[in-house]
Amino acid sequence: MSKPTYSFTTPIYYVNAAPHLGTAYTTVAADAVARYQRMNGHDVAFVTGLDEHGQKVAETAEKHGMTPQEWCDSMVPAFMDAWKMLDIAFTDFVRTSSDRQTRTVQTFWNDLYEKGYLYKGAYEGWYCVHEETYYAESDLETDDAGAFICPDCKRPVRRMSSGEENWFFKLSEFQDRLLEFYEAHPDFIRPETRRNEVVAFVKGGLQDLSISRSTFDWGIPLTFDEGHVCYVWADALLAYLTGIGYADPDRPGEFDARWPMQYHFVGKDITRFHCVIWPAMLMAAGLPVTHTVFGHGFLMVGGEKMSKSKGNGIRPADLVSVYGSDAYRYYFLSDVRFGADGNVSVERMTQVYNADLANTWGNLCSRVFNMVGKYFDGTVPQVPSGFTHVENPLRDIADGLYETFDSCMADVNFTDACAAVQELASRVNLYVEQSAPWNLAKSEETAGELAFVLYNALEACRILALYFAPFMPRTSAEVFRRLGLGDIAAVDDIEAATAWGQLPAGNEVEKGDPLFPRLKVEDIQL
Ligand code: ME8
Ligand code: MG
Repeated sequence: MSKPTYSFTTPIYYVNAAPHLGTAYTTVAADAVARYQRMNGHDVAFVTGLDEHGQKVAETAEKHGMTPQEWCDSMVPAFMDAWKMLDIAFTDFVRTSSDRQTRTVQTFWNDLYEKGYLYKGAYEGWYCVHEETYYAESDLETDDAGAFICPDCKRPVRRMSSGEENWFFKLSEFQDRLLEFYEAHPDFIRPETRRNEVVAFVKGGLQDLSISRSTFDWGIPLTFDEGHVCYVWADALLAYLTGIGYADPDRPGEFDARWPMQYHFVGKDITRFHCVIWPAMLMAAGLPVTHTVFGHGFLMVGGEKMSKSKGNGIRPADLVSVYGSDAYRYYFLSDVRFGADGNVSVERMTQVYNADLANTWGNLCSRVFNMVGKYFDGTVPQVPSGFTHVENPLRDIADGLYETFDSCMADVNFTDACAAVQELASRVNLYVEQSAPWNLAKSEETAGELAFVLYNALEACRILALYFAPFMPRTSAEVFRRLGLGDIAAVDDIEAATAWGQLPAGNEVEKGDPLFPRLKVEDIQL
């Protein structure tokens, strides 16, 4: 029997700037889901990529004295390196300047043209190149000098006119269908606050969307009208289809097996594109709509939205060099509740690192593996007969963990998923404390109990490594190695794998170096 599919995406990031904490946040979150759903037996498609067309990228390229294509090519390694550094295991990376994206965009919009959803019209309005969006004058803000600025990024907006006529998508016709859809699919927009914003916006009425540009040529030409290139959002959203083989003769059957997807993970800045324009495009094409768009919150530094211009832009690589990639992933996913805005700081990251990783998970492995070295010559002890009915608080917690963890992960509630696992980790430390193996080791009479206690602690470490793996794949693989177990990446039934009592007696246990050496805030140079 083939595995059930589980497919999702990150945004297709603009190629005009290198990856930063914000883009890494969404990507790490998607990767944790990918890893977990693979461990849960799913055939995962995890699509990410780069948004390379449009005015913003063209202008950035010009500033650097390059052609747009040269500029895009030059930026690809920065993304590939960052995702490699953070252990992002995507299944497809879609560049919108690729031939396959051209085929998707041309096929899709030609279909909507033939179905009668497009018409030609003139347009004039206020445009923000940074957001690649038109704004109604009533939505604009003004700067100190009274000039109009973008309500989202606060940059100056430009008065743009389409000059000759452009192609419009009849978005306004979808108002009722969208509202009915939101009503019938309460999970389509999450979290709830985003949903309310989108519903209010659509109730306010929709304007048709200009989907072509003829004043510049850095985009995908429309087949039905030469001289027009596709509007960058009408191009980028379709990368989600390209990433699972839409209209791709080299990937027969894949699109049908994978569409609709489970999730689009996006930030709240672009929820509207994904919850209004995108479902309308899909409805027009006669395709089902993605199950859920999850619009997470913004990372803030010092209470402010991160941005380069404010000088609070710490790069992911700076943090990874101090904390390592596993701790990086763990911190952002456990400490910033997925959905809400969250403040991040080096102080807080260090605190979480020391408390959860150095003092709890890392310390636990060191202590237990050391004692096994000391008392059992570094091999997993055999649980002596007669102990099967003895109280085992670790097993009690471990037995209930899958259900809690799985429902948190299905709900992309990383914070509570991590908390549930940490609870077991803390309980093991307490168990070791209370059982005091160093006392049990003093007498032959308690040798059986010593074996029982250390076996339980080791087995809990094995189970903890499995649950931590979606967040901290490197450390979990290392703990498996130290326990003499096989490749953790091969696990495809985490529920079965976390059932108690599978650590084989006699396995060699390696002490190894501390997994998370303690850090002091004052030692951290960024
Ligand atoms: O919008 N906190 O790309 P983009 C959390 N190309 N997440 C953040 C963030 C922050 N401070 N800043 C950015 C685009 N992000 C389009 C997308 S999709 C078809 C086209 C993350 O490079 C978050 O996911 O501006 C946000 O939605 C995304 O980066 C915007 O990336
Ligand atoms: Mg942006």
